[in-house]
Order: sequence, then C-alpha cells, then structure tokens
Amino acid sequence: MQSETKIINGLNELKTFAKEFSGKLQAGDFVALIGELGAGKTALVKEICFNYGIGEVNSPSFAIVNEYYGERLVYHLDFYRIKNEEELVNIGYYEYVNNPVAIKFVEWADMFPDVLPAKRIEIKIEYIDEAKRKIFVNRYE
Ligand SMILES: Nc1ncnc2c1ncn2[C@@H]1O[C@H](COP(=O)(O)OP(=O)(O)OP(=O)(O)O)[C@@H](O)[C@H]1O
Ligand SMILES: [Mg+2]
Repeated sequence: MQSETKIINGLNELKTFAKEFSGKLQAGDFVALIGELGAGKTALVKEICFNYGIGEVNSPSFAIVNEYYGERLVYHLDFYRIKNEEELVNIGYYEYVNNPVAIKFVEWADMFPDVLPAKRIEIKIEYIDEAKRKIFVNRYE
C-alpha cells in the first residue's frame, strides 16, 4: 500500500492537488471518497474532472450516479442515500465498477466497504477549518 498525506489550504491548493492527481489516474481506476458532510468530496471530484474538460459536476446524492463524458469517461456515485447492497445491485453498481475504461468516484464509499474493489485508491478528507482540509491518499493493489 502506498500512502500520502497532504494539507490543502483553500480552493487554490485544492485545484493544484486535483490537477496533479488527475494526471496520475488511469482508465478503469476506482476512487473511494471518505469524509463527513461538507468535507469536500464533491469539490474534489469537480476539480479533478475540470482537468478532463468536464464542466458539469454536481453532487449525485439524488441521482445516485452521474456520468460525465470528457477526455475521460467518469462515473460519479454517492452511497449516502443507499440503504443496502441490494439497492446497489439494482442501480447497476457492478456494471459501473466493472467498466474497464471509466474512472469511478464514489462518495461515502465507507458505508459499504464489502462492495469496494480490492484494487482502489482511497481518499480520506478531514475537515480542519472552513478552508483547510487534511487529505490522506492510500493506494491498495
Ligand atoms: N480545501 C478545501 N477542500 C475542499 N473543499 C473546500 C476546501 N475549502 C473549502 N471547501 C468548501 O467546502 C465545501 C465542501 O462541500 P462538498 O459538497 O464538496 O462536500 P462533500 O464532502 O461532497 O459533502 P456531502 O457529504 O454532503 O456530499 C465546498 O463548498 C467547498 O468549496
Ligand atoms: Mg458530496
């Protein structure tokens, strides 16, 4: 497992982090996002996707899954409103996860740890203050 920790101070630093991180992501990658309400999970996905020419990133809390088409195909999921694994199957979760080219971002991924692929990147965002966050990146092979 490869780990990295970073303090992000303000949205400009978030943009810088997202730009660097977006360049490292490969087709098929799965990114599990973990952090409390308002930690900045959606904000991070938005800044990463900006680098793929994707302008419209919204919280998928209600839609459950958003699909974006830019320089990369991106699936943006949110487990927050999901009640059980059966519901996940019904929304086609495994079809999304098994897509070999799409980059997947899943907010609240820690709600269903059993369904996460073994090979994944986990990003944990910790709220420090209004503009400041601590980000932990763990790569699992
Ligand atoms: N350094 C930072 N990193 C990320 N977000 C930040 C930072 N500083 C301020 N913010 C702000 O914090 C808010 C985070 O909201 P966001 O919707 O991304 O949270 P979330 O983790 O997706 O919450 P939810 O669990 O409701 O989906 C945004 O308004 C964003 O602009
Ligand atoms: Mg969100």
